[in-house]
Amino acid sequence: MIRAKVVKMSEDDLDREALSEAGEILRKGGLVAFPTETVYGLGGNGLDPSASEKIYEAKGRPSDNPLIIHIARMEDLPPIVKEIPEKARRLAEACWPGPLTMIFYKSDIVPLETTGGLDTVAVRFPSNKIAQEMILAGGGYVAAPSANTSGRPSPTEAKHVEEDLGDKIDMIIDGGSVDIGLESTIVDCTVDPPVILRPGYVNQDMLQQVISRVGIDPGLISEDENIRPKAPGMKYRHYAPKAKLILVDGADEKVAAYICGQVQKKQAAGEQVGVICSGETRAMYKEGQIRCIGRRQNEEEIAQHLYAVLRDFDEEDISLIYSETFNTPRIGSAIMNRLIKAAGHEIVEV
Ligand code: TXA
Ligand code: MG
Repeated sequence: MIRAKVVKMSEDDLDREALSEAGEILRKGGLVAFPTETVYGLGGNGLDPSASEKIYEAKGRPSDNPLIIHIARMEDLPPIVKEIPEKARRLAEACWPGPLTMIFYKSDIVPLETTGGLDTVAVRFPSNKIAQEMILAGGGYVAAPSANTSGRPSPTEAKHVEEDLGDKIDMIIDGGSVDIGLESTIVDCTVDPPVILRPGYVNQDMLQQVISRVGIDPGLISEDENIRPKAPGMKYRHYAPKAKLILVDGADEKVAAYICGQVQKKQAAGEQVGVICSGETRAMYKEGQIRCIGRRQNEEEIAQHLYAVLRDFDEEDISLIYSETFNTPRIGSAIMNRLIKAAGHEIVEV
């Protein structure tokens, strides 16, 4: 059994030697987990079909769920796509490097193993300097899903990667806690107007400032089983904590009163119950395992802590978690998309 070599570095203090070692591992077909500004990625050479197969195996991920190819220079985009639509070019200019992934028709050098059999390819140019240098060292094209076991919350710290994949991959680059904490926004640029397939830090308003009209995949919001999300990964019950998660939506006082009542009832019946609340409402809760994930006033904080809080609960002997909802102005739709999926659509309105 391999045990991943863990190396620490920061964006301001890159370890060149470790980066070239990571590059060598990637060029030889091995796997390296690395930090990005969104979540940690599990990287392999995106143009090497066997590396992509290894990624699916390490994650325990269905191989029809395509990978994102990460690049670190604008000029590396044309070789892997059939064409670059004008709107995609403008989005790339405005948002890259950064937390935006775009879907293009793929060129022949991109193996079907990387795209889950699709004739399209997802491409992202991350802003994290460690990621950029590693991608260049590895040959320029790094296929990387989030570096978690399939079905677990995405990793926002290197220790999460070690927990899930420490004995399955060659190297882990520990670059500390990520900045954003939610996966990139995915925009399908094979259609006009382009369509958001996964909400993220770059929201619809920001995209529409660049190209005036951007749609939202109806499969993302529909409760109808027949309307499937276009991004294959969005159909799985992702980001799932071990405990059952129930979201409670409504005015703050009512939500807190409902959750407190439920916690008392369940605990009296011998269950251990978790509560996810905000800084603003923390004082309204007295019982249960209470986790404050951040202040609504500072929505970035909530995004940053979301996955770590869900993972933390997995370590505890808890069977049920109640959470407030977080429809904050800018990234609320991305936060709620992840929470609703983690809760398997279980929402109580009070
Ligand atoms: O922020 C991120 O995007 C992170 C970091 C590591 O870059 N990566 C990430 O990858 O979240 P992953 O594999 O966990 O999620 C990729 C999503 C999946 O839902 C997948 O189905 C979708 O992108 N996807 C990939 N290629 C696609 C394609 N050609 N068409 C539609 N959806 C695609
Ligand atoms: Mg993922």
